[in-house]
Amino acid sequence: MDKKTDLKGRDFLKLLDFTPEEIAYLLDLAADLKEKKKKGIPVDTLRGKNVALIFEKTSTRTRCAFEVAAHDLGMGTTYLDPAGSQIGKKESIADTARVLSGMFEGIEYRGFGQDIVEELAKYAKVPVWNGLTNEFHPTQMLADLLTVREHFGRLKGIRLAYMGDARYNMGNSLMVVCAKMGMHFTACTTEKYFPEAGLVSQCREIVAWTGGSITLTEDAAAGTKDKDVIYTDVWVSMGEPDEVWEERIRELSPYQVNRAVMENAGEKAVFMHCLPAFHDLHTKIGARMGERFGITEMEVTDEVFESGQSLVFEEAENRMHTIKAVMLATIGE
Ligand code: CP
Ligand code: NVA
Repeated sequence: MDKKTDLKGRDFLKLLDFTPEEIAYLLDLAADLKEKKKKGIPVDTLRGKNVALIFEKTSTRTRCAFEVAAHDLGMGTTYLDPAGSQIGKKESIADTARVLSGMFEGIEYRGFGQDIVEELAKYAKVPVWNGLTNEFHPTQMLADLLTVREHFGRLKGIRLAYMGDARYNMGNSLMVVCAKMGMHFTACTTEKYFPEAGLVSQCREIVAWTGGSITLTEDAAAGTKDKDVIYTDVWVSMGEPDEVWEERIRELSPYQVNRAVMENAGEKAVFMHCLPAFHDLHTKIGARMGERFGITEMEVTDEVFESGQSLVFEEAENRMHTIKAVMLATIGE
């Protein structure tokens, strides 16, 4: 590891804070940890250490990935659920950060504003990892990049189209990593759901030296033509009010990922989604929306989700290997 990629003591809050070399280093480390796990070679060099996992929003993948990765590395975990901690209610972020720094070697935080995780990191004396905020989902990005790299053998030059709500954590984060890694990012949705202008300009400055590109288009056919990756996410994110469902379904239905979109992208294109996904009626919310609006699927059709082009479960597994890399690199041995 050279100086450029020594990440010991660093926070992991958003990928705007990392260089392409540092991101590539984390991906290489994750790939190595994945291979070792498959071969049954233990990497438990963080034995005796502990991490705190704060979740102010619910989770399946991120929580499981942090817990399994921490245990594999030899660490203990303490899970603080959305109702079970005093954070922000009875105790300030600054005080919580200093209390937890005395007991843990790292702190994961999933919650609302990015400002909260940034403040936590400011006061914590140990690395803080962003497990999802309204604005960014950086651990998901490493899993997505690893999955793309495993499938296509490279990142540079890959063309990725994101359909749906591109102004939230997933759209923002994908635009940032595409820019950093010299990929071509297209937000394909109505103008209302384009990423925020300031972040778009920041990413355009980055692509000027990485060789990628940023395109924003309302034209679903042009936006998804000849793409390597078609990516989408739920139309209503955690923490958003129930009332927005109706307008989201109306406004984003033209950007559903279906067979026509995948055919337009090309037969070598893959489908990706951070999950959870509404691709059928086998969830409480999916069934309720199905009844209310007379639909059977939302952001992606069941046909595409279950097709051979779908990489969603590889992506989900890679959450664990990449989160393990982040903890190992930032806590350090
Ligand atoms: N993709 C993702 O973050 O999933 P969870 O909400 O289940 O953690
Ligand atoms: N945009 C989604 C991502 C879930 C992983 C949400 O914030 O709920």
